[in-house]
Amino acid sequence: MTFPVGSGAQVPGGPGGATALAQLGTEAASCTRCRLASGRTNVVFGMGNPRARLMFVGEAPGEQEDLQGLPFVGRSGQLLDRLVLEEMGLTREDCYIANTLKCRPPGNRDPLPDETETCWPYLAQQLDLIAPVVVVTLGNFATRLLLGTAEPISRLRGRAYPYRAGHLVPTFHPSAALRGGGQVVAQMRADLVRAKELLFAATGKAPR
Ligand code: URA
Repeated sequence: MTFPVGSGAQVPGGPGGATALAQLGTEAASCTRCRLASGRTNVVFGMGNPRARLMFVGEAPGEQEDLQGLPFVGRSGQLLDRLVLEEMGLTREDCYIANTLKCRPPGNRDPLPDETETCWPYLAQQLDLIAPVVVVTLGNFATRLLLGTAEPISRLRGRAYPYRAGHLVPTFHPSAALRGGGQVVAQMRADLVRAKELLFAATGKAPR
């Protein structure tokens, strides 16, 4: 599937990429490629710095995200913001945040395989245009999709994987941390420190 991504030079992570990303977001805002279009309030395309070196990929919008049109603005997002600030010294303006699905599944059910497949070109283009050094995947769905595996997050986390021109660091979804308590939060913290070290190693400077 191809997308119109503008006519300017699209250097990944560069100004042309930011324009193309905005155009892609405009296109996604009226998307009707799958059944989720009929039940959504807003498309949740993504937010943050289009030139970010760090990108988070979650699962799908929840109720608050659907209402506000922004990713991770509910309770799990608040936890994610806190952990990223405490372990990496970064705010969401320093990163880019997106999901595998851009529309909320009814009742927050799991994404269906055909929905994930239909929505994938948007995320693939976001990854191309932002070209982050490190991608942190949050939970089973994002991690399995990007790594192309069926292994559970509990087995996949704890290390980094080569990904595109950089690295992928899988961690738990913050909603699992909200349910699972201290041990899950501690493992998420360790994963975020791993991501920070990779950013530092790749760029020679603090992640911001
Ligand atoms: N959970 C996700 O995976 N993404 C969001 O944007 C919100 C909650």
